[in-house]
Amino acid sequence: MPPIKAVRGVRDILPTETGRWQRVEAVARRVFETYGYREIRLPLFERTELFARGMGGETDVVKKEMYTFDDRSGESLTLRPEATASVLRAYIEHGFHVEPKPVRLYTLGPMFRYERPQAGRYRQFHQANVEALGETHPALDAEVIAMLIDFFGALGLADRLGLHINSIGDSGTRPAYIARLVEYLTPLRDRLCGECQGRLVNNPLRVLDCKAPGCQPVIEKAPSILDALSPGAARHFDSVRECLDALGITYTVDPRLVRGLDYYVRTTFEVLTRELGAQNAVAGGGRYDGLIQQLEGPPDPGIGFAIGMERVVLLLGEAEKVAAPFAFLIPLGGRSLQRLLPIARVLRQAGLAVEVAYGDRKLPRELERASRLGVRFAAIVGDTELQNDQAILRDMTSREQQPIALDRLALELLAKAREAVTEDTR
Ligand code: HAM
Repeated sequence: MPPIKAVRGVRDILPTETGRWQRVEAVARRVFETYGYREIRLPLFERTELFARGMGGETDVVKKEMYTFDDRSGESLTLRPEATASVLRAYIEHGFHVEPKPVRLYTLGPMFRYERPQAGRYRQFHQANVEALGETHPALDAEVIAMLIDFFGALGLADRLGLHINSIGDSGTRPAYIARLVEYLTPLRDRLCGECQGRLVNNPLRVLDCKAPGCQPVIEKAPSILDALSPGAARHFDSVRECLDALGITYTVDPRLVRGLDYYVRTTFEVLTRELGAQNAVAGGGRYDGLIQQLEGPPDPGIGFAIGMERVVLLLGEAEKVAAPFAFLIPLGGRSLQRLLPIARVLRQAGLAVEVAYGDRKLPRELERASRLGVRFAAIVGDTELQNDQAILRDMTSREQQPIALDRLALELLAKAREAVTEDTR
């Protein structure tokens, strides 16, 4: 008998990869928490009805991709294909709506969809999911998007990704647009792929984001949803864009960005890459005002997104730049090591990444190591410095050196680190 293997589309995350995973998760937590989001941990399975009602019965996910089973009491349960419906269920169940709005929640963890596995697409995958509930102001949409971009920025990925945004209008005005779209598409039906011919009947908006080459000429000439927005939705979208512009966030307005789930209204957005073939969406989200009420909750609006963690980890790749220590402390014999060790400890306790040499190599070799590590500052303590209770502080970029009292070294490095952060964010 051959040994049992993992289920198709389900992967082990091996120790060679977990470092990257931990880093991505830590960055997600740090960025989300600085924006005021709190973690919520949710069950991996829910009543099937929650997803059917939450995501929409006509979506691919609900129709074809759910892991649904009856438990021993005959109740239909489903492994969660996304987190939004579960977050909203918890929001309603625990009465979060009485808290100051918006209520900001995030959750990290595995999701399950029965999709055809390929690179970047799995049957068990992980999302970092964020929801801001109870506020309609367009500035919140921009803030949520800014947070998503900051997450990618903190991982050094921002330059390799593109932000696409759209407004798909209100649920009240969308039917008129869909009718126009169907009117446009119906005579061209034979030029659409088989899947789109089905969508034309069941979910016409999804024709717009079909990737099949044959459908592109038809889609390109389709009426734009942006021309069909209600005045309120158009104002909302303009305002989101103004806020994004004020934040200096660049984006592409993409009227074909309709997303695959039924609950979206107004703002939708995706972060796309060209580096992962067909699986080009690294994150996606949007506004879903009305959904909480649809789940028998209060009439609170909401907006959120989910990041596909596997895809982020894939983008980081093997060649991920390891964050360089900020400072490298170089003792040169005598008791200089013992003087520098507690200083390194204090700096690490204060959150600064620091390395200490052991004092058994010559200065040029240690300096070479410091520049290979990419550190910003080296602090050197030889016999003369030790006698004077001093260190030489060397800026590794400009190569400028200055003496500094040893009992001021930690404070000076912390101040330099703070300056560097300010410069980097400018
Ligand atoms: P979604 O677009 O279905 O949205 O998924 C978000 C992201 O999860 C995708 O952009 C992709 O990176 C990743 N993803 C989805 N399916 C797979 C898969 N089979 N394998 C690997 N990665 C995958 C949602 O799930 C919404 N709940 C997002 C949201 C939150 N909207 C509002 N709040």
